[in-house]
Amino acid sequence: MRAVDIIIRKRDGLALTREAIDTFVDGVTHGTWPDYQASALLMAVCLKGMEPEETLWLTEAMVRSGERVDLSDLGAFTVGKHSTGGVGDKVSIVLAPVVAACGGVVPKMSGRGLGHTGGTLDKLESIPGFRVGLSIPEFKAVLRDVGACMIGQTATLAPADKKLYALRDVTGTVESLPLIAASIMSKKLAEGCRALVLDVKCGSGAFMKDVAHARALAEAMVSIGTRAGVRTEAVITDMEAPLGEAVGNAVEILECLDVLHGRGPADVRLVTRRLASRMLVLAGLQPDDETAAAAADQAIASGAALERFRRMVERQGGDPRVCDDPRLLPLAPGTVQVTAERAGFVTAMRALAIGQASCLLGAGRDAVGDPVDHGVGILVRAKPGAQVAAGDTLLELRHRDGRGLEAALALCREAIAIGDEAPAHRAKILEEVR
Ligand code: URA
Repeated sequence: MRAVDIIIRKRDGLALTREAIDTFVDGVTHGTWPDYQASALLMAVCLKGMEPEETLWLTEAMVRSGERVDLSDLGAFTVGKHSTGGVGDKVSIVLAPVVAACGGVVPKMSGRGLGHTGGTLDKLESIPGFRVGLSIPEFKAVLRDVGACMIGQTATLAPADKKLYALRDVTGTVESLPLIAASIMSKKLAEGCRALVLDVKCGSGAFMKDVAHARALAEAMVSIGTRAGVRTEAVITDMEAPLGEAVGNAVEILECLDVLHGRGPADVRLVTRRLASRMLVLAGLQPDDETAAAAADQAIASGAALERFRRMVERQGGDPRVCDDPRLLPLAPGTVQVTAERAGFVTAMRALAIGQASCLLGAGRDAVGDPVDHGVGILVRAKPGAQVAAGDTLLELRHRDGRGLEAALALCREAIAIGDEAPAHRAKILEEVR
């Protein structure tokens, strides 16, 4: 089957056969399809879409392009979580130890930040010594002892996705529902979890800008997971404004520690509690949402979740003293405030612009492999809905020697709107797909 014929078929809006999709993924994995043909097919998929069956075949072919982690010898019902990416989204870092403290086993392979969204691995690496590059045997040993372990994707997992994602990133083909669904689900299926809860972000700071698109993505991924034999559900959560009050790396770890200590922003606690409940129910550890949520609350109140986090940090080479002494985290010394120009209510705090501003300060990267500054970031001092007086602090930027500061300040000012009336309440949890 010639590559050009497969491209033409999709260009003309026709469905591809399983064989054609296998040929494409195989060609990308082994380098027999040149980048220009792979990119042409990606663009055709982006413009013409895929049927659910084609998306499933694409996902399965991408899983088969590499290894599938076998976690069956852990003797536990493993339950994973994945977020489609947002600004200030540090939920995994709190959630994994909470679920582990409730008896769950949470193998978490995460990504790095790219574009305006932050990455769990970059955040964790702001803990001195923390290693995200464990081997699979090391990963399993930590899971056995602690119940939670958070590492980077190994090179052998869904290698076709690595190549395709890199091509999509530079050919304007990231924003495609079937390509996003297959990319995420191929990695999740290769990770070997038996259940999976997806946090599909929706709003200005997310790939999916409105609920209809977020729902379609959630349904596609739930369908792929279920058909592959993994109990899969999705929760659609708001990403119009940043989640929590910290955006960056070390500043987000600080916020996670706050939540694990029983404090922290209400929205982070709410999303964590909801996802934890569904993970515990899906794993068969709790009978219903109510008891599951109570178990998650108790795990935090008793200090059991913090203890799991401490053990996970220690087993992954990090300094566990950060749990009680956040001064060990590398915070950048410079601070600048963005203040309210007038009195009123904060009606908008656009996540996309805040995420971009944080990247400009150095918390994110422009290209894969760029270093990040763990110490810089943005603290949200007035969330949407807050009533402020002229001159009140809205945001605090932590910078290093003024790097990126001017442009970041301009973006932050654009991100905020102040009006005369309080904005309508925006729920953080928008919908669920089961
Ligand atoms: N995250 C992924 O892993 N893949 C995508 O395509 C989008 C977000």
